[in-house]
Amino acid sequence: MKTIQIRTEIPGPKSKALVARREAAIPRGPQLVTPIFAAKAEGAWIEDVDGNRYLDFAGGIGCLNVGHRAPRVEQAVREQLVKFLHLCFGVTPYESYIALAEKLNALAPISGAKKTMFINSGAEAVENAIKIARAHTKRPAVVCFEDAFHGRTLLTMSLTSKIVPYKAGFAPFAPEIYRVPYAYCYRCSYNETYPSCDTFCARHLEDTFRRVVAPDSVAAIIAEPVLGEGGFVVPPKEFFLILREICDKYGIVLIADEVQSGVGRTGKMFAIEHFGVEPDLITTAKSLGGGLPIAGVTGRADIMDAALPGGLGSTFAGNPAACVAALAAFETIEKDGLLARSAAIGKRFEARAHVWKQRWPLIGEVRALGGMCAFELVRDPETREPASTENKELSRFAYEHGLITITAGTLGNVMRILVPLVVTDDQFDEAMDVLEAGLAHVADKKQPVASHA
Ligand SMILES: Cc1ncc(COP(=O)(O)O)c(C=O)c1O
Repeated sequence: MKTIQIRTEIPGPKSKALVARREAAIPRGPQLVTPIFAAKAEGAWIEDVDGNRYLDFAGGIGCLNVGHRAPRVEQAVREQLVKFLHLCFGVTPYESYIALAEKLNALAPISGAKKTMFINSGAEAVENAIKIARAHTKRPAVVCFEDAFHGRTLLTMSLTSKIVPYKAGFAPFAPEIYRVPYAYCYRCSYNETYPSCDTFCARHLEDTFRRVVAPDSVAAIIAEPVLGEGGFVVPPKEFFLILREICDKYGIVLIADEVQSGVGRTGKMFAIEHFGVEPDLITTAKSLGGGLPIAGVTGRADIMDAALPGGLGSTFAGNPAACVAALAAFETIEKDGLLARSAAIGKRFEARAHVWKQRWPLIGEVRALGGMCAFELVRDPETREPASTENKELSRFAYEHGLITITAGTLGNVMRILVPLVVTDDQFDEAMDVLEAGLAHVADKKQPVASHA
């Protein structure tokens, strides 16, 4: 049976009424991607308040790698609910926090002794990773990248690249932040071409250290192994190898921000594993809690211990229900083979998307690292003018036809896929059919298929 079941127009009457109430009660700052109000969800589907069934290829922005209400997660949370809900780990600790830290320490691709601490959100994970790196190095500066997204708090917004909507009107920003180009080869900031560029963007950091900030002032280099909000850009392998060399040379802490790319999304537990590089610290959040809010910083024990007792943490950090949910999420990934499934999803996506790219010049580039899949839309394959309006149209077509997606990219022209990894092949193909119909709808009005076939 098909998963997508549309019985009324989208949004239906109940969703429409809730959109109106939302507008009256809630400021416009928190975004509204679809006018669909959820009633229930399971696996890779969501049913809305009007009884329409959708495939969820957004996964709450990458938080549901194990799917909605993964059975082990649901069971673990139910059992926790009747024990205790909040104690504050700093006051009266509980075992699940430690067990989860041990799990992350065992999984993190970092040699030697490791430690982990928990907080509530991705932004808090990044904030704490920077605090730890500063305490360890006793240096102030942080190097970050163009097109990076690290959160919306003062420090993480300052580390984030995209101005509108993340930074506009919110100055002043945190000091001692230095931004350099990422290895976004499709839109190279230096107008170079890989591989003949010899990964100039990473090597050019040496120049930044002469002209912009002294390396012995730099506490950390923070990078996403795959750009998340920046458009699912996968850098060449050398990029992280060079960053690692530079960090070793100057005693700088390398932070891999795995908030979006981690916990199985790319076919490995951590995306940095694809690059054969060990970071010093790793941030996690999103899918860590299997749907509950929890975030972590994992790293070399000597670095993690730099902050004084009481210098890190927060009241709700490592909430008991979220800790057991995260343990159950890891069990699900491991026992249900979701890393292999993620890799298979990436291949299934690429098989379809490369055919679309042949058919429609609107698709400028197809990208996939396991289940972290996307395509970038352009008005012209030569000029690469971003097709952001067309991307919005595609996203709208998708949800009106039963598929929830989210866009990405500093230029707003990337369609990304963050489907729960428990999606079945039939569901995945159904979603691909909707995207294909959407591309035909958007592209063919502007570029008749016949002239490009
Ligand atoms: C790479 C990365 N870091 C940090 C964050 C911030 O996470 P949160 O929204 O949980 O604060 C995000 C959110 O999208 C992210 O993708």
